[in-house]
Amino acid sequence: MKDSLDPGGYTLPPTLDAQLAALWSEDHFAVDGSDLGFLNMCIAAARPALILEIGTATGLSTAALAVMQGHHGIAGTVRSYDLRDVLWFDETRAVGDLVPEVAGAEAGRVQLTSGVTALAVAQDVARDAAGMAFIDASHQHPWPLLDTLLLLPLLAPRAPVVHHDLQLYRNADNPVGVGPKLLFDQLAPAQRAVASDLGLGVADVRTPSRSAADNVFLMWRREALGRQGRELSRGLLLPWTLTDPLEPALVAQIAERLRAHYPGEVARNFEIGHARFCDAQARAAARVAPPLRGLRARLGRA
Ligand SMILES: C[S@@+](CC[C@H](N)C(=O)[O-])C[C@H]1O[C@@H](n2cnc3c(N)ncnc32)[C@H](O)[C@@H]1O
Repeated sequence: MKDSLDPGGYTLPPTLDAQLAALWSEDHFAVDGSDLGFLNMCIAAARPALILEIGTATGLSTAALAVMQGHHGIAGTVRSYDLRDVLWFDETRAVGDLVPEVAGAEAGRVQLTSGVTALAVAQDVARDAAGMAFIDASHQHPWPLLDTLLLLPLLAPRAPVVHHDLQLYRNADNPVGVGPKLLFDQLAPAQRAVASDLGLGVADVRTPSRSAADNVFLMWRREALGRQGRELSRGLLLPWTLTDPLEPALVAQIAERLRAHYPGEVARNFEIGHARFCDAQARAAARVAPPLRGLRARLGRA
């Protein structure tokens, strides 16, 4: 997949670029010009008829994906999914409300589903059927990894999976948004790509870019899905940064889905990670060292 990327595609369809140059604002909490240039390069290389997105928000990225698909002459659909029905930063607005304005004539390609997680995608999409995924939902570990594991079986071999917010972990105000970076670090360098690997910096487009370079990264569905799942699932054993516990029913559904698509180790690693990092009782039972206060007393310190 990486070898098929043409740096010439690191740009935007001119009409989309002109429109986003006027409309783009930090307040949309959306992808920027360079992120979109990277996505356009992936679409040009993979020519996906079905693009899956997790994390719709205003639908700016969803609409841009649809316009780029049309620009490359690809007949197809963009399916986007979001946990919420309304925007988290403005509850008076529906998720995806920018799609008609940004997608224009391509809006008919877009199908939005709200109030769901990536678990819901399999109700709409058959195994191996999708040509690309863009993941930009919860950035708390392990959500980006779970979204990936849930989508990979629905993607064709070699289909690109692009993740947003690789650099979020560097934000001092966000101690939990480390999910994309943790996933990136699980991948061997030969199994991932960022723009600078291709000698690319900020995209030469009118749509603004934030200062963070390499804020999106590419990985892809490998032929050996079981092996890919096993390798990725080891990241589930590393500290989770969820601010809200997962509902028991959701835990059971995720484990069941992982069990259906991957070797047993993958669901087991999910359950071990959940017990290690979400279940306070299990953590207390696992304590092997004496509490710090007792240790200090034995060492004769206050
Ligand atoms: C950063 S915004 C997406 C921005 C959008 N991709 C764009 O560039 O225009 C993240 C979205 O993910 C949604 N979200 C958060 N956790 C989620 C989850 N576990 N599954 C699906 N969506 C989730 C939020 O409701 C929010 O709308």
